[in-house]
Amino acid sequence: MSIDFYWRLPTHGCHASLRHSAYDRGDWSPLRPGNVAPGLDRDGEDDGHRYIDHLAEIARAAESAGFIGGLIPSFPNTDDPWVISPLLARATKAFRFMIAFQPGFLDPVHAARMSASLQRATGGRTVFNIITGGGGPSQLWWGDGFGHDDRYGRTTEFLDVFKGVWKAEDFSYDGRFYRVQDEGLSPLLAAEDLPEIWFSGSSDAALQSAAKHADYYLSWLEPFDQLADKFARVKARTAALGGEQKCAVRVDLVARPTEEEAWREVRAGFENLSDERRRASRAGPTDSVGAARQQALKPGEARYYDDLIVASNLWGGFSLLRGGPALGIVGSYEQCAARLDELIARGADAFILAGTPHLEEAWRVGEEVLPLLGRSAQSLLQAAE
Ligand SMILES: Cc1cc2nc3c(=O)[nH]c(=O)nc-3n(C[C@H](O)[C@H](O)[C@H](O)COP(=O)(O)O)c2cc1C
Repeated sequence: MSIDFYWRLPTHGCHASLRHSAYDRGDWSPLRPGNVAPGLDRDGEDDGHRYIDHLAEIARAAESAGFIGGLIPSFPNTDDPWVISPLLARATKAFRFMIAFQPGFLDPVHAARMSASLQRATGGRTVFNIITGGGGPSQLWWGDGFGHDDRYGRTTEFLDVFKGVWKAEDFSYDGRFYRVQDEGLSPLLAAEDLPEIWFSGSSDAALQSAAKHADYYLSWLEPFDQLADKFARVKARTAALGGEQKCAVRVDLVARPTEEEAWREVRAGFENLSDERRRASRAGPTDSVGAARQQALKPGEARYYDDLIVASNLWGGFSLLRGGPALGIVGSYEQCAARLDELIARGADAFILAGTPHLEEAWRVGEEVLPLLGRSAQSLLQAAE
């Protein structure tokens, strides 16, 4: 089976290097000389470049470097993935756009029509990352006061209706959250393929909803045994319903020609953090089981970068250097490829990779790491012969 590789598109700004934490690509930090998209002209004024121009560069680089598509995350501080994707579709050829969204914030019939239009306009390049939110103040930011399991109930019903109106001409549904009567997309729109559904969340409610609706169950990286166990549970649950579940991992890489160079990068980033920042947890109050699993990987206080090494080539401090999950892969090109091979052997069927800065690292990972995949599996086989 071929393995699909996606790249992350940083709709929350990007850093020119993992070594420092100010956003200097985009306008998430005050503009300084050297800032990109927007930059500063000779008079110190905004030079007119928009951040979408930079995202388009990343999407084109990732497409050329061998990635099949890009994940477009959705948080209160990001641009909106539904708006960003058609703009980027016009800047690329076959690159797919994985739109992250919380279903509860859209009407499912309207969302089906929007998605079918996007499929028509882009030649079927729409993919979803279905997220259900982490509760707490950021959930209320969206005006959503539902509790954790109710949100998953709503996600499941949303996908029932979304698929129902796409596939049937006169679909009716009487659920707790949605009620529709004799609805269906027009034949022109209904002829489009449903977007592939990727599904994020680690709670039991998430796994239950994923088993019903997901093409790919998606997880942040966790220690390999723990992740393999989660994938096995997810696959077994879907198999019990008569389906086959594919699983995927979202992971940051620091890949360099040698392992020493890779750790030097991480160490410099860690040493540039203030003491306060090193102690801080970026996660606010949340009911997310997935976020709690990431948080559990981090020791209370890390004085040195290597206090955060979780296993060979696995570092648990990424969330200190930028927003997002804690665990990522650090190593030489060969080691990074070998770790990805190991994840494939443990049940991963696809990946969303990321690196900072996203533009240059898309080229690096595409050119230096992806071509090495499969080699460690081959050498293991040869060693066994
Ligand atoms: C790979 C991955 C990507 C995610 N992306 C987002 C995102 O873009 N926006 C967001 O609000 N939550 C995101 N989440 C969190 C999900 O919203 C998830 O629903 C949340 O962690 C609560 O689910 P849980 O308690 O089942 O783990 C992501 C989670 C994973 C695993």
